Amino acid sequence: MSTVLRVSNLSKEFGGLRAVDDFSLEVGAGEFVGLIGPNGCGKTTTFNCISGLLDATGGEVEIFGQPAGRLRPDQIQQLGLTRTFQHTRLWREMTAIENLLIPPRNQFGLDPLRALLTPWRREEERARVRRAYEVLDQLQIRHMAHNLTSELSGGQSKLVDIGRALMGEPQLLLLDEPVAGVAGPLADKIFNDLHRIVNETGISVVIIEHNMDFILRQGVDRIVVMDRGRVLMEGTPNEVKASSEVIEAYLGGRGGGAG
Ligand SMILES: Nc1ncnc2c1ncn2[C@@H]1O[C@H](COP(=O)(O)OP(=O)(O)OP(=O)(O)O)[C@@H](O)[C@H]1O
Ligand SMILES: [Mg+2]
Repeated sequence: MSTVLRVSNLSKEFGGLRAVDDFSLEVGAGEFVGLIGPNGCGKTTTFNCISGLLDATGGEVEIFGQPAGRLRPDQIQQLGLTRTFQHTRLWREMTAIENLLIPPRNQFGLDPLRALLTPWRREEERARVRRAYEVLDQLQIRHMAHNLTSELSGGQSKLVDIGRALMGEPQLLLLDEPVAGVAGPLADKIFNDLHRIVNETGISVVIIEHNMDFILRQGVDRIVVMDRGRVLMEGTPNEVKASSEVIEAYLGGRGGGAG
């Protein structure tokens, strides 16, 4: 299995605060990895460093074998990595399909409005519309194509947000809490969709999730438990479950809301 993401000894300091501390992670092609840990343990900061939004204080990031530590977010996107944000970033007064047609901020080198309006881009635009419907089908939400996203539920919005991330056919997808606040059945559906997409396309997914019990049930390949910027433990769901008492004692006691 080839390595698509290699994070080595990553650290990130904000003033005196060490938000990420000697964090290492490898993700293989076609792997589905869960990243879990209590509030403020550094999960999002790790994603921000990998996706080029923040410069790491130390350590290395390699994406598809390329050193990516000094690349801008749009250059990282071009390598085949797309990430979503913890707080869904949708254009609320636009429909689901319109949201898919607008490239995510910070991640494309071109001005989205210009891309939409410039006539010589029309053929490109048709291809994007075809791709958008394909993505809606992958997520089984074609029926929502023309709904304003302001009318969708939190979970449906998360699906549209994932759809936006899938538009550029990423090979590596980093999802920051895509089911936070989403009702149980829809959260399960989102994971089922992701499993199907991973199986059908062979892409790799790293998903940040807050709820330990929930992620243990989702059949991911591997779970990385993070605490205070470091990897506390890493293993299959069964391995993590076997030590879950330790983990719960460790994480639960500080009211981190990890599960
Ligand atoms: N831009 C920033 N400037 C200063 N401190 C920051 C910044 N971003 C994050 N932090 C701090 O770094 C630590 C890690 O934050 P981070 O958002 O990565 O945690 P998290 O694991 O994603 O938490 P949550 O589960 O709440 O999303 C926290 O103490 C946070 O306050
Ligand atoms: Mg976070």
